[in-house]
Amino acid sequence: MSFNHPNFGRLDENRIIVFDTTLRDGEQSPGFSMNLNEKIRMAEALTDLGVDVIEAGFAIASIGDFESVKTIAETVGQRADSPVLASLCRANAADILRSAEALLPAKRKRIHIVIATSDLHMKYKLRLEPEQVIEQSINSVKLARQHADDVEWSAEDATRSDMDFLARCVEAAIDAGATTINLPDTVGYAIPDDMEAMFRTIRNKVPNIDKAILSTHNHNDLGLGVANTLASLRGGARQIESTINGIGERAGNASLEEIVMAIRTRQDAMPYSNNIQTKQLLGLSRLLATVTGFDVQPNKAIVGRNAFAHESGIHQDGVLKMASTYEIMTPESVGWAKNSIVLGKHSGRAAFRDRLNTLGYKIGDNQLNDAFRRFKDLADRKKVVFDEDIVALVDDEVMRDHERIRFVSLDVRTGTKAQPSAELELEIDGVTKQAAAVGDGPVDATFKAIQKLFPHHATLQLFQIGAITEGTDAQARTTVRLEEDGKLVDGQGADTDTIVASARAYIHALNKLLVKRERTAPAAMAS
Ligand code: KIV
Ligand code: ZN
Repeated sequence: MSFNHPNFGRLDENRIIVFDTTLRDGEQSPGFSMNLNEKIRMAEALTDLGVDVIEAGFAIASIGDFESVKTIAETVGQRADSPVLASLCRANAADILRSAEALLPAKRKRIHIVIATSDLHMKYKLRLEPEQVIEQSINSVKLARQHADDVEWSAEDATRSDMDFLARCVEAAIDAGATTINLPDTVGYAIPDDMEAMFRTIRNKVPNIDKAILSTHNHNDLGLGVANTLASLRGGARQIESTINGIGERAGNASLEEIVMAIRTRQDAMPYSNNIQTKQLLGLSRLLATVTGFDVQPNKAIVGRNAFAHESGIHQDGVLKMASTYEIMTPESVGWAKNSIVLGKHSGRAAFRDRLNTLGYKIGDNQLNDAFRRFKDLADRKKVVFDEDIVALVDDEVMRDHERIRFVSLDVRTGTKAQPSAELELEIDGVTKQAAAVGDGPVDATFKAIQKLFPHHATLQLFQIGAITEGTDAQARTTVRLEEDGKLVDGQGADTDTIVASARAYIHALNKLLVKRERTAPAAMAS
């Protein structure tokens, strides 16, 4: 690359900038929400992972969004190894000034402007003439450049735009000072050939194209997000926008871990480089699942429970003889531990901490004490403690230590002879409260007791129980989905006692609802 990028300098022509938008596009999707602490924790983990840019949020969207961009700028943004921190804006002064203000403390920052360029979006959504879109692009990029040297301009719905018009917009945005040009497949409509062709066309048509990095941003509506991202690289894109676990609007965004491992595994076909520490991918995926309450599906590439599991005898035999017969990458290279049977009741704190580190958790001493106490308790009840058990207990207890409603204890009576009843103790905003309730069954009684302690009008949409590992002493993993005013949240809980796991899941979902309540959706948020 011939030009000197304000944040990255002169880059090797095969160096890929990894732009993570889990905290913006990912968090924007229905049912997903993170509170401030969770966003900071994610931003720290993304920094350790080695991403180049973190899109921390959409500062004008709400006070909560502004605060989270600002706080990430004040914390992660002060680290010596801080990625570039970005905040999204529409192409208007209010959005840009709000982003600039939130990003002010960051050592390395980027203002990201989006405006639609397809006829459909310009006519029906923006109600702007094409010339007005060019004018707004120029004015907004110029304004943003007064607050940041690094400005990204995105053409929303680029893949359905007229290529001549798109090329004019790109040229104007670069002339105005944009240093990254992003051409998203906003609605997940394109196929890989389209992506490669679009980037080649824009590179051929735009005379000043060598003054900016080209970026690709793909949604997964046809399941092609990753394929489209890789095809864009062939066409000349050198920044990929993606999310952990592929979370995002509708069917999600292209998944970061899949793109990175495809490039790493197929260097013969894609000789690109990046800074991602791939061993941290699994830990980050789990952290995200914990804070959002959404697990990835078992067969999800790279980070799903079955991604490296070999069920058929023929495959197992092959893998034992030579792993590469059926494994195209090693499980360890993305963070899976070699042996999933870990500790027992005689294991000490050091071994426990070591195991947590291997599993991708970095926790402070207080949290370690809590986790260790719960681990000992579990080891007393359960013969063998697996990695999955440890992940569940850390996720369940320690990672939620900042939540407003916390589970303390539960006693249930049930059977065929008496009416099921529950006595529950919760800590709400630091105050311990008790309530008792009866119900149709022990779960119903428990949920009614929660309702007494924390009155709410959310309705239960889904209640699901599964076992984390095998055996009758396995921990139950429960999922509870609540709905309130059209907002959906999923909560998860784990315990060897199914009713306790159910209570924990319900409480987790309630806490997520509280986060949702504090936030207001912006009027016209880009996907
Ligand atoms: O999908 C999209 O077009 C976006 C833009 C804001 C980049 O998310
Ligand atoms: Zn998007």
